[in-house]
Amino acid sequence: MKKRVTKIGVLTSGGDAPGMNAAVRAVVRTGIYHGMEVFGIMRGYTGMVENDIFKMESRSVANIIQRGGTILKTSRCKDFFTPEGRKRAYENLKTHGINGLVIIGGDGSFRGAQTFSNEYDIPCVGLPGTIDKDIAGTDFTIGFDTAVNTAVEAIDKIRDTADAHDRLFIIEVMGRDAGYIALHSGISTGAENILIPERKTDIEEIIKQLAEKERRHKLVNLIVVAEGDEFGGADYVAKIIKERLPIQEVRVCILGHIQRGGSPSCFDRLIASRMGYSAVECLLEGRFNVFVGMVNNRMHYTPLNEAVKKKQRISEEWMKIVKILAS
Ligand code: F6P
Repeated sequence: MKKRVTKIGVLTSGGDAPGMNAAVRAVVRTGIYHGMEVFGIMRGYTGMVENDIFKMESRSVANIIQRGGTILKTSRCKDFFTPEGRKRAYENLKTHGINGLVIIGGDGSFRGAQTFSNEYDIPCVGLPGTIDKDIAGTDFTIGFDTAVNTAVEAIDKIRDTADAHDRLFIIEVMGRDAGYIALHSGISTGAENILIPERKTDIEEIIKQLAEKERRHKLVNLIVVAEGDEFGGADYVAKIIKERLPIQEVRVCILGHIQRGGSPSCFDRLIASRMGYSAVECLLEGRFNVFVGMVNNRMHYTPLNEAVKKKQRISEEWMKIVKILAS
């Protein structure tokens, strides 16, 4: 028979994402509703290793649903990836009597949870909190919608000035390993080209298209580049283009961390609330060591050991849409 979970620890880990606070709030309030005790673990796995853990009440999460960042703070904890670090973390959890964990983060955080749950008898449930949307087993991740809307708002503004000056702009968005922010924001702003880590870029073809547009005096172009594309971001792409097409007035704009901050969108607040609620239900029902995603607007549970093996893929159809709509 599966162990009954009575004391939950909740943490946020990896890059922060708008909506993490809404998820923490949902976990705390659902846990308390079911008569559980809930503990906040500060700075992701670091707080587990260093015993930075405190008891949360319903009012600890008042007035946070609309706030970006994470009240629990976050980190990428190297110590937790060592057996000694995980042992310390386990002992700290035991001193508080914590017998279930909710981990809100991306694939790196899930990897940590999976290793930990294999070694120790503390069931873990993950919630996908990352602006990158690169986790297989869910249609959306907490934070993606807000981040992509921040990028869209910024790119729309850049188009205004690009248009006024007849300039080519290379805009870099976040995504070290994932092109979803670039893809969605690029399509939504009518970008002429979108460069992502998941696909090889035919730079010669882009230069040919730009030269042809130059000939037709169409000089306004937006190229959206994910920071982790094969050229390593917008600066290098701009350098290549300037060398090959000296007449083009090229400007670079790196959107950077503004994409991670800000008040979460309604959509992110909603999915965070539903997922946080479901994470506690999972711990109550004995559905252990899974992450809670959403597929076709329903909760979807993927074992953590499967989740860490797969990345969300970008379909060929997306790439076709980009090509057709930009022509
Ligand atoms: O949270 C995901 C992410 O924003 C990636 O898109 C980006 O490459 C990375 O985090 C940046 O992390 P950091 O803020 O630690 O440099």
